Amino acid sequence: MEPLRILYLSAEMAPYARTGGLAQVAAALPRALRRLGDDVRVMLPRYGLIDPERHGLRRVIDHFPVPMEHDFEEAGLWQAVDADLPIYFIEHERYFGSRRGIYSFPDDAERFIFYSRASLEACRHLDWKPHVVHCNEWQTALVGNWMRTIYEDDPFFAETAVVYNIHNLAYQGIFGHRVLEIAGIEKYGFIAHPDVSPSLNQVVSMMGRGIIFADLIVTVSPTYAREILTPEYGEGLDPVLRDRQDRLFGILNGVDTEAYDPRTDPEIQHCIDADDITHRDACKAALQKELGLPIRPDAPLISMTSRLSDQKGFDILCAVLEPMLQHLDAQWIFMGTGEQRYHDMLAHLQSRYPKRLQARFTFDETLARRIFAGTDIFLMPSRHEPCGLDQMIAMHYGAVPVVHATGGLADTVTDHRPPTVGTGFTFDKYDGMALFAAIVRAIEVYRHPDIWKAIQRNALAQDVSWTQPAHAYHDLYRRARSLKLTGRPA
Ligand code: GLC
Repeated sequence: MEPLRILYLSAEMAPYARTGGLAQVAAALPRALRRLGDDVRVMLPRYGLIDPERHGLRRVIDHFPVPMEHDFEEAGLWQAVDADLPIYFIEHERYFGSRRGIYSFPDDAERFIFYSRASLEACRHLDWKPHVVHCNEWQTALVGNWMRTIYEDDPFFAETAVVYNIHNLAYQGIFGHRVLEIAGIEKYGFIAHPDVSPSLNQVVSMMGRGIIFADLIVTVSPTYAREILTPEYGEGLDPVLRDRQDRLFGILNGVDTEAYDPRTDPEIQHCIDADDITHRDACKAALQKELGLPIRPDAPLISMTSRLSDQKGFDILCAVLEPMLQHLDAQWIFMGTGEQRYHDMLAHLQSRYPKRLQARFTFDETLARRIFAGTDIFLMPSRHEPCGLDQMIAMHYGAVPVVHATGGLADTVTDHRPPTVGTGFTFDKYDGMALFAAIVRAIEVYRHPDIWKAIQRNALAQDVSWTQPAHAYHDLYRRARSLKLTGRPA
């Protein structure tokens, strides 16, 4: 069978440009699909922070025209000399090359409209017709809209289907009417939906357009795919999502198990093997030492590596953390940056209980890996979490997660309910007491090393690799293509 040609568009991809989970997904999924035989190619903006020499980039197209508003902008195309995956970079000095960061410029809409449009036009110049364009997040959301308007009768894209991937509905990309002019689709105007709030009907939600025009929509876990159909999680777009429910799928992300391999990870002091977790004790002692906590094998060590924000659960944690420090014989590690009030809270608690709590206000990849390897309990009480990757990496390193049962957290952590041995502990109601109770439950079980080890082994045995998700994406592409060509799923 002819390999599927997939154009993968993402504003981030590790190691080139990275702020969050999307970058990790974009680095791993295309490679996993490539291993299945699909002809996947990635295109990224050539941000100023990407050093062409360090990454071995070479220019493949000097310049080609990209329609913008009523005119054209010139783009260049570069390619990374990366053996296992073609990665291209859209060059434009003013939009990307001359800027230091990735996002948060006043003209972000224009910048990413250009990047998306240039990516499609680049395919023409490469004479490579994608069967599917896989778009991620609002930055690439207009591709589906274009396919059903300005590219509708373009023979080059006649057989190109669009899959729109939502990683986090909260970042919608909301702009004014002007962006439609820039994108060349102003004559189609705002899209009003009778059940969407008037305020959202009078702006352009890039995310909303991505959902409306894609052949298929996919998000990063089955539970999140159901949750976003409700007003509680729908960020105002739930009526639109409900209309397209038959086109919406949830596929759980994986972990790059080559990059995160506890058997060989050079950043951790002692290797961890699913068959032999005894080295975790040494990893725990090393972590306690590094953080300046008393080296106590008997004290359960609880860690959180996360943005310090309400979404990540700090609003419910702040009410119960001090009582837990007073009443539970446990140690706590926090790593991350975020809202000032949570910095202040953790700094205050650290000065009061230095033998029980240590916080590091930074994001340090090495320390993160040491936490995965050395902590007993990995805490992720997010209010909502589309997928979440850290709980999976933690389990893969033998830590036991305590999580709020939402989104991907609910799909990856099985609550320990004797006699059935779980992979961690979950709580349903989003409040401080429920979180407290789940931690107490975990600490109780921790006192029984045999059961604890059985949970760890279960967690470690879970397949968190990209193998299964890549198959699911491959099937999804086939389905999208069939819908595009015949109006019926494959
Ligand atoms: C977003 C989501 C997170 C998910 C990641 C990768 O950052 O908030 O839950 O794991 O995307 O899909």
